[in-house]
Amino acid sequence: MTIPEHVLGLESSCDDMAAAVVRRGLEIASSVVQDQIEVHEPYGGVVPELASRDHVRSVSAVAEAALSRAGVAPEALDGIAVTAGPGLVGSLLVGLSFGKALAFRLGIPVVGVHHVSGHLASAEVANPDLRPPYIGLVVSGGHTALYRVDGDGACACLGETRDDAVGEAFDKVAKLLGLPFPGGPSVQEAARAGDPEAVRFPRPMRDEPGLDFSYSGIKTAVALEVERRGRLSGRAVADIAASFQAAATDVLIARARRALREHGLSQLAVVGGVAANQRLREGMLGMVRRDGFRVVFPPLELCTDNAAMIAAAGARLLARGESHGLALNAFSRVPVGEAPWRDGERA
Ligand code: KG4
Ligand code: ZN
Repeated sequence: MTIPEHVLGLESSCDDMAAAVVRRGLEIASSVVQDQIEVHEPYGGVVPELASRDHVRSVSAVAEAALSRAGVAPEALDGIAVTAGPGLVGSLLVGLSFGKALAFRLGIPVVGVHHVSGHLASAEVANPDLRPPYIGLVVSGGHTALYRVDGDGACACLGETRDDAVGEAFDKVAKLLGLPFPGGPSVQEAARAGDPEAVRFPRPMRDEPGLDFSYSGIKTAVALEVERRGRLSGRAVADIAASFQAAATDVLIARARRALREHGLSQLAVVGGVAANQRLREGMLGMVRRDGFRVVFPPLELCTDNAAMIAAAGARLLARGESHGLALNAFSRVPVGEAPWRDGERA
């Protein structure tokens, strides 16, 4: 089967409601993301119950906006791709139910997409000349993991965090420093005025064998430093933000380098919300230049959660003849490479 002409992607695994139309699996005809910053800001983090209720309010309008911006009528769609997991089940179910209902009405196939496969696909959408095999580093609020991506959708996890995700650490450090939600961009902003050498935070697992990560230690070290200093001046906030950002990103760079060397590969794709981080981008570029590797980052709007990546990954599944039908269900946890929804299994 050939790659479908128009796929509608839907992504609602956490606090963003997103819809996008992708042509032939690679060309983004539209991509709409509705965030919920105002909903969660007072709590300093995502409140699952509020997230799913807000998705219910926005899903139709966001999907309609994606179709109209693409100039594609619903009847012109060849398939629908929707994130089926991992994520917040209440949030996932909103996109999933909407996608299934629309597919049923239009008489077209619907496929469930793994959120991380979507992030990995974003690298190929942004860089069509990126061909497997390559190492994928997925860094977001829920994931910190290295994958080996081979042809035909084969993807093996090489290592992952044993505790917090790196984005989660950014978010928690922002809270400790009194910086606004969402934490990653505000830590990056505060760090601009700070000295990355001011505090020597630990670099957990950086030089250890294997390819796992650990971020709870850095977060605890920041909490102790904040407690030790008492009232924080603007300068202190900037220095702690810059020093934390340096420690967090140094570990990612060292582990990605180890993965490339251990697997004898030369290409690296860095994806997920934390891939938007400027220091990480600069550090990775420095590393690959020294070692003769190639690194690709999606543009910022494809790093954070979006539905274009889901539509792109889904287009490939549809091209292989996959169609998951109306039994498609949401799963809060599911390893990459597995698709329990394929068999209509229950969550
Ligand atoms: O991929 P994403 O939108 O959602 C998940 O799948 O988790 O990633 C969101 C995460 C949040 O933890 C956010 O703080 C972080 O990505 N993030 C950043 C930056 N922009 C977003 N972290 C560091 N620096 C940034 N510029
Ligand atoms: Zn994500």
